[in-house]
Amino acid sequence: MALEIVRTIVGLRARIAEWRVAGDTVGLVPTMGALHRGHASLVELSRRHCRRTVATLFVNPKQFGPREDFARYPRTEDNDRDVLAAAGADLVFAPPTDVVYPTGFATRVDVSGIGDILEGQVRPGFFAGVATVVAKLLLQALPDRAFFGEKDYQQLLVIRRLVKDLDIPVAIEGGPTIRDRDGLALSSRNAYLSAAERAQAPALHAALVRVATRFKDGVDPDVAGAEAKTELFATGFAFVDYLDVRDAETLAAIQPGHCPARVLGAARLGTTRLIDNVAV
Ligand code: PAF
Repeated sequence: MALEIVRTIVGLRARIAEWRVAGDTVGLVPTMGALHRGHASLVELSRRHCRRTVATLFVNPKQFGPREDFARYPRTEDNDRDVLAAAGADLVFAPPTDVVYPTGFATRVDVSGIGDILEGQVRPGFFAGVATVVAKLLLQALPDRAFFGEKDYQQLLVIRRLVKDLDIPVAIEGGPTIRDRDGLALSSRNAYLSAAERAQAPALHAALVRVATRFKDGVDPDVAGAEAKTELFATGFAFVDYLDVRDAETLAAIQPGHCPARVLGAARLGTTRLIDNVAV
């Protein structure tokens, strides 16, 4: 039987209310669809913590810049439903845009500080778009826990901040990045890569791992980052947006020897932008 799908907030809340009456805990896995094993792993993680799991499919227009890939972002709802059913989700919430942003919608959730640097600097408005839709999804579903991939590490920290600041009563859980065997982090945008670019793409993860090792060896983070950028250009990357070692919780700039740290990078191969990060 196909996995149940609801497209209205009333429908979502009615289903969750039934589960609450039965005493079930609820996990939420927000996604933009085009699902892969990384998303499936978040559903599986939710199932380990919660009796019921809702996955959302919504390509959020507010987190795309005017020159970004909103129009061509892959929309694969039938396949996504199969992936979610196989992973054990109980319900899909796939609202149309006017359910999420009805006429007159005027509110923007902006997480300043941690939302303004790195991704936030390269993609102005991106984290406000993410924070706005995630705040809405959390308030629509009011789950016990919500699950986000560590692949989007800064996004995870922005969401933790927003939940704390707005007193939203939900635990935010990070799931580990799922990678192909050659190290490339799974991402819906990997589908844009040509065969040649796909072969070059694992160089980003390899560069981050090398920076983490050099940093652990006491090398200045700016020096290690600059070396890695040179390597990425040599591999065929057209542009490196950033490749930095930062404090793992605040993403502030750090000195050699700082702990805990995280190496974060974003770089472009042709027209495809890849992001990744590793713990130090
Ligand atoms: O990570 C994503 O897929 C999106 O940014 C999210 C969290 C579903 C919000 O649209």
